[in-house]
Amino acid sequence: MKKLAIVIGSKTGHTAKVAHRLAETLRRCYQDVEVFNVLDVSTSLPESLERFDRFLVGAPIYCGEYPELFLDWMSSHRDELDSKGFAFFSIGLIDEALHPTGRLFHMLRLVPSHVATFHGTVSHRKWGWLQSVVLRYYSRNLGLLFARDRDYELTNWAMVDAFAESLAGAECGSGGSVKRPDRQQAA
Ligand SMILES: Cc1cc2nc3c(=O)[nH]c(=O)nc-3n(C[C@H](O)[C@H](O)[C@H](O)COP(=O)(O)O)c2cc1C
Repeated sequence: MKKLAIVIGSKTGHTAKVAHRLAETLRRCYQDVEVFNVLDVSTSLPESLERFDRFLVGAPIYCGEYPELFLDWMSSHRDELDSKGFAFFSIGLIDEALHPTGRLFHMLRLVPSHVATFHGTVSHRKWGWLQSVVLRYYSRNLGLLFARDRDYELTNWAMVDAFAESLAGAECGSGGSVKRPDRQQAA
């Protein structure tokens, strides 16, 4: 059985929560599943990701973009992601069509095997004053209204589980390898 690295860029923990939920299902068909948060300074990334056979990569949107350190990680591991294959999930409050996923893969010239977008959280209690103000500015521009005095967890966990099942099915269902789309098709 193969080894999977789930590499995320979570600032306030929600993407990490989604990653661990995905990992639960994926442990059924990978010998080893490890989660690495490139934004968590308390846990260092392994020097080499050579021992992993496949990647699942995920990040939240902040001010219309994925976190910079996460983007740096993706750029510097571009060739490894391309050669071994990877799936991607994106977290945000906006509609799926507005996620910057297509732009990211166009820029890096990468084709993920699977892509999912999930709704994230509004966590005033975790965020500082400035983060709440910035989020309010962005959400108002996007026509989203959130009360200031309560938090929201908008993730549809059934969708997260369905994504995990589809990855597991592709990896260890029939034939045992993740199906990658035709490069021409995705371009
Ligand atoms: C300052 C700030 C800016 C944000 N900007 C966006 C945005 O532009 N688009 C969006 O969909 N979500 C935005 N969000 C929501 C985050 O993507 C959401 O809270 C996510 O769950 C955070 O994930 P994390 O806990 O893994 O960092 C923003 C949140 C904050 C605090």
